[in-house]
Amino acid sequence: MKTLLPALSAFLLHQTSAVELPDPLVCIDGSRITTAAEWREKRRPELLELFTREIYGRNPGRPEKLVAEVFDRDPAALGGKATRIQIAIHPGGKPGPRMDLLVYVPNGTKGPVPAILGLNFWGNHSIHKDPGIRLTESWVEEKAGHYADLTGVRNNRATEASRGGNSRQWPVEEILSRGYALATIYREDVAADHEPHFASGVHPLFPELQKGDDNFGGIAAWAWALSRGLDALEKEPAIDARRVAVFGFSRLGKAALWAGASDERFAMVISNESGAGGAKLFRRGVGEDIARLNTVFPHWFAKSFRKYNGKDKELPFDQHFVMSLIAPRPLYVASAIDDKHADPEGEFAGAKAAEPVYRLLGADGLPAESWPAADTSVQGGIGYHVRSGIHDVLPFDWKCYLDFADKHLK
Ligand code: GCU
Repeated sequence: MKTLLPALSAFLLHQTSAVELPDPLVCIDGSRITTAAEWREKRRPELLELFTREIYGRNPGRPEKLVAEVFDRDPAALGGKATRIQIAIHPGGKPGPRMDLLVYVPNGTKGPVPAILGLNFWGNHSIHKDPGIRLTESWVEEKAGHYADLTGVRNNRATEASRGGNSRQWPVEEILSRGYALATIYREDVAADHEPHFASGVHPLFPELQKGDDNFGGIAAWAWALSRGLDALEKEPAIDARRVAVFGFSRLGKAALWAGASDERFAMVISNESGAGGAKLFRRGVGEDIARLNTVFPHWFAKSFRKYNGKDKELPFDQHFVMSLIAPRPLYVASAIDDKHADPEGEFAGAKAAEPVYRLLGADGLPAESWPAADTSVQGGIGYHVRSGIHDVLPFDWKCYLDFADKHLK
């Protein structure tokens, strides 16, 4: 904390958020960043270390023992529209914990295609009814409200009847028809998001990373898995791994932002209603706060984050720093008007407050001076919309993401 104090003196009052925020361009030692080189050499590494140590925790990098095996390649999937590839990633070697990467590549396109990579909530098989998708053997939730039909899940295990249960949030054919490959990994293959925490998924492989206060949390594990997914995509000649957008909804949107911030290979980042610990600013004190995050989801963040419980408004950093780490790469942040828990206006303010870094690095910012009207997409180097309705992923959201991707990745 002591080393953070000089930064406390360097606040900027941001017009859009009406909240005082620490300046992403002022270093911990109080010096101001004025060039792209200084940002890269000094401020970016310092912020990465700060968020690793204080919020998300340390990850194991790319483990030497990791084995990735393609176990399915069907060039006639989805009625001939796509090639389906499934890759078993064993981060600790075989046998051992396994994360399946499901990939659909559109058929009939010229040259390697850009891709969208995101984690899913209820299993790879839940995103589409395709009978060729391997059913996860990991634990699966049995209820998900209106988000998914999980009636086919029995005793927390996937069954044939659970295929496509969450397809309403994954317009696979639409994404493919727009010229993008789609790749996904199941959250519970990576990290136990149910009790007992840290007991399944990849965490048991890395007990030493649970010892410190900067322990490898669940969000960090999901972000790390996205990087391992990208490693696998790099080996697929039909995919242009330099044009991969990382996407995530809600808790998985928090992970997508951290993946994009910490792994510069991701060419674009999409945060769909990531809220607290994602795009929302804590300092506004609106919606879910740090104490709630650390209490209800004690496995998501590093233990060190708990010392900020109740101190949202005094944080010496905030989530706009995470989005600054994505600059100058395109970033799209989306909110939903009734998603009060995620503080939609605070998500806008967070994205907007990353703008000085985008500008410094020669990219466009977020072309809106105040919170845009509902259902209006604004798109610069940073894109944003607030959709009418509740916390969800809807066709309007995907349309905006694909339009934004067309602008930046095509
Ligand atoms: C809870 C949690 C949010 C999270 C959401 C989700 O509502 O409080 O922080 O984003 O779950 O992942 O669905």
